[in-house]
Amino acid sequence: MQSSDIISQSREIHEWIVEKRRAIHRHPELMYEEFETSRLVQNTLSELGIEYEKDIAVTGVVGLVGNGEGPCIALRADMDALPIHEEADVEFRSEIDGKMHACGHDCHTAMLLGAARVLKDNESEINGTIKLIFQPAEEGGAGGKMMREQGVLEDPDVERIFGLHVSDKLPTGTLASKEGTLLAATSSIRILVSGNGGHAAMPHLTVDPVVTGSKIVVELQTLVSRELDPLESGVISITMVNAGSATNVIPSSMELQGTIRSLTSDGITRLQHRVREVAEGIAMANRCMAEVTFPGNDFPPTVNDGECWELGKISAGEILGEECVSEMGSIMGGEDFSYYTQVIPGCFSFLGVGNPEIGAVYGVHHPKFKVDEDALSLGTAIHVNTAFKALAG
Ligand code: NI
Repeated sequence: MQSSDIISQSREIHEWIVEKRRAIHRHPELMYEEFETSRLVQNTLSELGIEYEKDIAVTGVVGLVGNGEGPCIALRADMDALPIHEEADVEFRSEIDGKMHACGHDCHTAMLLGAARVLKDNESEINGTIKLIFQPAEEGGAGGKMMREQGVLEDPDVERIFGLHVSDKLPTGTLASKEGTLLAATSSIRILVSGNGGHAAMPHLTVDPVVTGSKIVVELQTLVSRELDPLESGVISITMVNAGSATNVIPSSMELQGTIRSLTSDGITRLQHRVREVAEGIAMANRCMAEVTFPGNDFPPTVNDGECWELGKISAGEILGEECVSEMGSIMGGEDFSYYTQVIPGCFSFLGVGNPEIGAVYGVHHPKFKVDEDALSLGTAIHVNTAFKALAG
């Protein structure tokens, strides 16, 4: 299929894609609860006459277009929202208090539905099979891992996988990515500091977990600044601190939670090891106990295959214009797309949705996060062009 036809056919269904996006945006659902979103995806695929499998990793859906034979490639979108209360001034605001599509996964799902439609309309030209993966729980739930474990990359075996993520940092009409490590490996941390509570006026009769926990927070910062090679990247952020409920009571325990980031899985393991040693050591020196756990899922780094990025770059360039596709540096965000690229080559890229003229300037995970919807049919066209190019080898 010619890229000019892909552009015009994607543009023709622009309003349809926007409608899908807005419908999903109004009803955000958190990880593994994407039942309505999943139903919308299933209904749309049914209307388009696309076969699909559902209930993979709880709410995941995989559609199949093409001739059912090899080669097979996959396009992936995520469907979950965040526990954020929306403050964006859009007419299709979230109708659910405290939940919002603040990471653009509504756009990802809608763009992939757009691609499903264009691909189905041109199915006779597809030399192979395209899997359309709609996955749950990217935001810390490792839905990608569960999808992979439930076999979405098999039968037929997926040779290469591609994904897009919207970015407010890039203007609409542009795309960026890179070969190699694009996104960080991540791990969450939980440290429970236990002491012995009592009256705040008699600290000598207590073992104060608040002072000890505070020392741990400060000391952990030196792991990155004093132990890591300055040319390597790492982050330790303690983001949640919980202790006490009265001004005159020293509590018995303090809970610290946060995240660790590194560009390599080894780096994460090293930081985890040192976080444990430092927390336990400081606790012991202060007569407390520290219980260190790394709950939830550790995401591996998202590593793009060189050839897949070459292909992604050319495909996006034909849609957006070569000058609108650029190389970027690695960033410390995490992505569970990494669970796919751990086992097969793939490429994850950022699609610009930033536009100061309409107030699309807030970052992802911000309550005022807004996207320039003009980018949606471009994302659809890039998906389709990438799929055709990937199948052509
Ligand atoms: Ni996201």
